[in-house]
Amino acid sequence: MSLRPLEPLLAPSILSADFARLADALRLLEEAGGCSVHVDVMDGRFVPNITLGMPVVAALRKETRLPLDCHLMIVEPLKYAVEFVKSGADWVSVHQEADPHLHRTLSAIRAAGAKAGVVLNPATPVETLVDLVEDFDFALLMSVNPGFGGQGFIPRTLDKVKRLDALRTERQTPFLIQVDGGVGLENAQELVWAGADVLVAGNAVFKAPDPLRAIRDLLAEMRKGRS
Ligand code: DX5
Ligand code: ZN
Repeated sequence: MSLRPLEPLLAPSILSADFARLADALRLLEEAGGCSVHVDVMDGRFVPNITLGMPVVAALRKETRLPLDCHLMIVEPLKYAVEFVKSGADWVSVHQEADPHLHRTLSAIRAAGAKAGVVLNPATPVETLVDLVEDFDFALLMSVNPGFGGQGFIPRTLDKVKRLDALRTERQTPFLIQVDGGVGLENAQELVWAGADVLVAGNAVFKAPDPLRAIRDLLAEMRKGRS
């Protein structure tokens, strides 16, 4: 029996949206359907860039009922992860490379009432998750080095998705597999076919001439990967 949800989910990253018009971005995702909202939190330490924090998440929460998926690219994530849940995040993911106490942090996120995710950089093998599979609700595989939108997809990620999907089947644990970075029409179907359930897309949505159409086209490609 498959451990995967039937419908893949698209998580457009508001990092590529107009920060002065985030409410408009939320309306767009609501109209499109099939989306959650990917929120990239960067601290200028774990990654070179600085983006946004809890007050922005709280403001987004007031504007939408869509799931808010907060990807924390920060050092010492345990310090802030629960604050993000309290601010309205439904999903919170933390980098394995940033946290020597992942089990503790993931447990705290779940106890606060959100889905807990673990993120792996391109250089971190999926096999590092073997002793943790029951402690997260989703695993996020970075297909670019985190820090910026609009980078090129690292093709080796496809093999990581397959290996993680095999681990999920072997251990019979129903975690979701998410992929983030350089996702577009050219790789969406293949990623879902390989085992991904949630695809993050920044530039492919918000820098497209018609973002609504871009979402619909991406979702259509993703569904082909399940048929
Ligand atoms: C990169 C971020 C991504 C990024 C994706 O550090 O985690 O979520 O916004 O943007 P694209 O889809 O443009 O690569
Ligand atoms: Zn992200």
